[in-house]
Amino acid sequence: MSGLIVIGAQWGDEGKGKIVDVLAERSDFVVRFQGGANAGHTLVVNGKKVVLHLIPSGILHENKTCVIASGTVIDIEALQKELQTVTELGYLVSSKQLQISSTATVIFPFHKALDQARESSLGENKIGTTGRGIGPAYEDHAARKAILVGDLFDLDVLKAKLKSILEEKNALLKYYKQEQFTVKQMMEWAQSYLQSVEPYLTPDVGFNIYRAIKTGKRVLFEGAQGTLLDVYHGTYPYVTSSSTIAGSACTSTGIGPNMITDVIGVFKAYATRVGSGPFPSELKDDLGDYLQTKGFEFGATTGRKRRCGWLDLVAMKYATRLNGITHLALMKLDVLSGLDKIGVCVSYEINGKAVHEAPTKLSDWEKAKPIIEFLPGWKEDLTQVSSLKDLPRNATLYIDFISKHLGVPIDVISVGPGREQTLWVKPLFAN
Ligand code: IMP
Repeated sequence: MSGLIVIGAQWGDEGKGKIVDVLAERSDFVVRFQGGANAGHTLVVNGKKVVLHLIPSGILHENKTCVIASGTVIDIEALQKELQTVTELGYLVSSKQLQISSTATVIFPFHKALDQARESSLGENKIGTTGRGIGPAYEDHAARKAILVGDLFDLDVLKAKLKSILEEKNALLKYYKQEQFTVKQMMEWAQSYLQSVEPYLTPDVGFNIYRAIKTGKRVLFEGAQGTLLDVYHGTYPYVTSSSTIAGSACTSTGIGPNMITDVIGVFKAYATRVGSGPFPSELKDDLGDYLQTKGFEFGATTGRKRRCGWLDLVAMKYATRLNGITHLALMKLDVLSGLDKIGVCVSYEINGKAVHEAPTKLSDWEKAKPIIEFLPGWKEDLTQVSSLKDLPRNATLYIDFISKHLGVPIDVISVGPGREQTLWVKPLFAN
């Protein structure tokens, strides 16, 4: 079996895109299994910055099959733009390179309008969503009302579904004092994107992935967002609306867990979070600003400043367990160069008690005070380091400390945004 899952072990934006990009070279299929255009994977290829929201980053490699699976929510307007970008850059040359599940859910403009209206009505209590309509689209799916990509091509079904959905959505939009949508408008809107989606429409992507793995092909599953944003296991309700953990790669594509060989948990050398919600190791001082500036921590989708803090090993231990992480990839280690000492959150204090496991209650997450252990820093610039033995001793100590605490090897270390700025302790998915 050769299914490899790459997931974010923190609150998203861990740098999964870069790891997926490198591993995609060694894969036959690259599968995006959940979320939508709320994600943003920034890649630097040959010095050029490319941001992908929906299309798996495997598209930047030749002879790969990229899949957007059933568990995703697809904004066809955003997808069309992305298709245009990768086509113009010369990466998408054949419809064989991309399969879009006909059972993925479509995000309509009314989903976005509702997402944004709800957020503004929540004021200070807002989730801080990306405003991309993710929550309302998943709600429709759970309510068994969603318009699936395949429905777009059956005008009678589309019209009937729109009629039923819009009755409810318009009532809600009226409640929020927002503009309403007509069936005709939405039919026309959908029509304008059909041509761009049609060449890639695939009825059963799960079967194709199953067959690929069964015949010895390598399939890479690319997670979006991060573990602590999982709709069931994250810092609920400050989460996204899909399941972001490794198990979701199976449920969202329609394959069995026995198809998976390994799970790579990607994490940054420190922690970040975009939007609202608990973040125990957050640094609300100059040091937090320093990490934000030095790490250039801005959301790839919304451009918002990311909140920054020390690495949180309580949250990471939780992520290791939830995902069954077998290998870790440590990103942005170079950002920590220059600090005298580096903090690591090793436990929380909640109601005066030391707590070593992630809480299950929001109020406990909110009360959690970080217990920080300090490790010695290093001054050397790491961006040119090309071999593990050239890492400063204190950087190696930092890596070993994390790996020992989590009981999982750190097999990849990233010291810059470029593909070449990656140190492989163990070659994963290699021949
Ligand atoms: P939504 O996914 O747009 O509904 O947003 C819900 C929460 O997840 C918000 O706090 C967002 O900032 C966060 N979020 C969604 N996508 C990402 C991502 O790709 N990286 C980091 N945070 C994200």
